[in-house]
Amino acid sequence: MTPEEFRRHGREVIDWIADYYQGLESLPVLSQVAPGEVLDGLPAGPPERGQGFEGVLADLESVIVPGLTHWQHPSFFAFFPANATGPSILGDLLASGLGLQGMLWTTSPAATELETRMLDWLAQLLDLPAGFRSTAAGGGVIQHSASDAVLVALVAALHRASGGATETGGVGTGRFSVYTSGQSHSSVEKACRIAGIGTAALRKLDVDPATLAARPEHLAELLAADVAAGWMPALVVASVGATGTGALDPVSELAELAHRYGAWLHVDAAWAGVAAVCEELRWINAGVEQADSYCTNPHKWLLTNFDCTAFWVADRAALIAALSILPEYLRNTASESGEVFDYRDWQVPLGRRFRALKLWTVLRWYGAEGLRAHIRGHVALAQEFASWVAADPRFELLAPHPLSLVTFAVAAGAGGDADDADHAGRRLLAEVNASGRAYLTHTQVLGRFAIRMAIGSVLTERRHVRAAWQEISDRLAEATVADSRATNSRATGSDAPDSDAADSGAAD
Ligand SMILES: Cc1ncc(COP(=O)(O)O)c(C=O)c1O
Repeated sequence: MTPEEFRRHGREVIDWIADYYQGLESLPVLSQVAPGEVLDGLPAGPPERGQGFEGVLADLESVIVPGLTHWQHPSFFAFFPANATGPSILGDLLASGLGLQGMLWTTSPAATELETRMLDWLAQLLDLPAGFRSTAAGGGVIQHSASDAVLVALVAALHRASGGATETGGVGTGRFSVYTSGQSHSSVEKACRIAGIGTAALRKLDVDPATLAARPEHLAELLAADVAAGWMPALVVASVGATGTGALDPVSELAELAHRYGAWLHVDAAWAGVAAVCEELRWINAGVEQADSYCTNPHKWLLTNFDCTAFWVADRAALIAALSILPEYLRNTASESGEVFDYRDWQVPLGRRFRALKLWTVLRWYGAEGLRAHIRGHVALAQEFASWVAADPRFELLAPHPLSLVTFAVAAGAGGDADDADHAGRRLLAEVNASGRAYLTHTQVLGRFAIRMAIGSVLTERRHVRAAWQEISDRLAEATVADSRATNSRATGSDAPDSDAADSGAAD
């Protein structure tokens, strides 16, 4: 592709993306294709001769777009958001264009130094402990994902628990244990498997039934019993904003116990952590100054497209000691001077994209004010949504909702059957999602089927939240009418008379 061809097609692509965003609202949020439908639209083999770029956008429209679930849709309320924005797309495009590998300082000094500065900026914006800054003993780095962050935290923790340098240069022999709440993300278990200590090393902490936060008393019991049985506690993972319900663990108490037993304390604030750009929400990070490592994902809720996990450590030497291997072909004067960071030593892969560039374009475009407005808007919408749920006796809230995630269920009612209510909730969610008008996902909360309303798309406005609530409310009303018709006709052997749909109970 010549520079002229690149210019022409590049303009077409940017136009296509801009049009996509402008028309997004009219598309069904959840893809409606059947399994195999996209495969059927694609040739079975690659072209023998180059085809140019001409047909790509047309095929994108006809074959690919129908098979997309639109994560940037304003009515996307599933999982957690995955923000993409103009400035981050352009920053990422620049990174793709530059095509560099920033694994060593010397392979592109600007890639390393911009990343160091961006992570320090972000630490300031979130008011993270001074010890996490590059100017202190710690420092931040961009990881691919929060799953990578917990994996490298575990490897560093295992290395430290092994007494640092071992004969094998890795993890010493011993039975290492890891602790986290039953509400935590599955990446903690995955990290145990990848690191080779396996699921058997993982202890799930009980949670407080009211707050769904990990119970420090349970951690204390498990630590004491494990040590007595010859286990070596290596890592405790505290969740600030657990995936299912947004539960916030008591970081300080967990950290105090972890350190008493010589374990590393990692805080997984993948989704919620970025809310600390708002001063009034910084309480979520209470106790983080006692953490050995901390991660939050600008690629979830801070206007930056995937991938961009911000990961900080309090003692970078401990991380580097665990991960650094120096083959001859990577030796260079700058690294040997000890004056530079080589971020390859802070992560699993060697190669690394220039992801700091998109963080730079995002932070410059929005400024601290813009970031705060983004978070505050969603938190306010979630509080309003929760008030509608609370005011409707057909539903019940299942978890605290201080941020932008609201977890709720169809109410079991006085003396009602929770299984029936959960069945109704499951059906309701399937119908709402099949409508294409909103997309929500679910979890289990203390045995109940819970619907999660995660507000965080950049394009979401109050009218989208209102419409989603109306959809949920109306569909439950229709289901209730259909159920009572079926019950009446079973009882009388005839068609039941029409009855009015139950009042939606929605407050505007
Ligand atoms: C609390 C928490 N931790 C970790 C993850 C995994 O995130 P990633 O996709 O960045 O690995 C998630 C994803 O939703 C999460 O909510």
